[in-house]
Amino acid sequence: MLIAGNWKMNGAATGAAEFDGMLAGASEAASRGVDLLVCPPFTMIGAFALKAAGSPLSVGAQDCHFAEKGAHTGDVSAPILAEAGASAVIVGHSERRTDHGEDDGLVAKKAVAAQQAKLKTIVCVGETEAERDAGDAVAVVARQLAGSLPASLNPQNLVIAYEPVWAIGTGRTPSTDDVATMHGAISQTLDTQFPGSAIPILYGGSVKPSNAAELLAVPHVGGALVGGASLKAEDFLAIARAAPGNG
Ligand code: PGA
Repeated sequence: MLIAGNWKMNGAATGAAEFDGMLAGASEAASRGVDLLVCPPFTMIGAFALKAAGSPLSVGAQDCHFAEKGAHTGDVSAPILAEAGASAVIVGHSERRTDHGEDDGLVAKKAVAAQQAKLKTIVCVGETEAERDAGDAVAVVARQLAGSLPASLNPQNLVIAYEPVWAIGTGRTPSTDDVATMHGAISQTLDTQFPGSAIPILYGGSVKPSNAAELLAVPHVGGALVGGASLKAEDFLAIARAAPGNG
């Protein structure tokens, strides 16, 4: 199980103390086979990675550029993230897709760049509410996977996050049946593209301590990508405790 926190554009003032709290709880989670990853804003990565060195708490980023380096003002490349101590990066989050017009082709290039920098690569997919209402959710996600996952990716270092857009930050979640259907479909697609690899499939969208146990118990759910509830150590660790561990 992987419980990943996506802090988005949050964490000023309180982030360092909350991160310390997460660090304090990471060994207990790790002893149960639950890995914790925190993805703060870029500027916090270096300091957090230093604090977490030697601990089971990993630090990641929320995005990267597809190029290794060069004239891209305001962007951060995967090698720069790795040098700062990040071991993972999220690509294709729906907020990137919406706010920055990122499409599957760009997400695919970012995923390749992330893996070249040896970062664990979390590729996000998920349908909008209109797409779900139209009965197209599974087809939309299949199309996103096809466009976002080049065959060259190394499945050992790949994670998929299924995040229905309408569930992000809204307090609404799909039924466990709908999560099971989607995760089953994603798992089949991944088995076809990367036979024999057990790529973790995270669920994301309004995961919180009170619903984590039921969402994380759904077949083919390999963890959670948590936004709002990952900002507080208490909530983040409560979600980790709700994850079915291996002991
Ligand atoms: P949320 O965000 O947990 O606040 O819904 C999840 C995400 O966007 O990764």
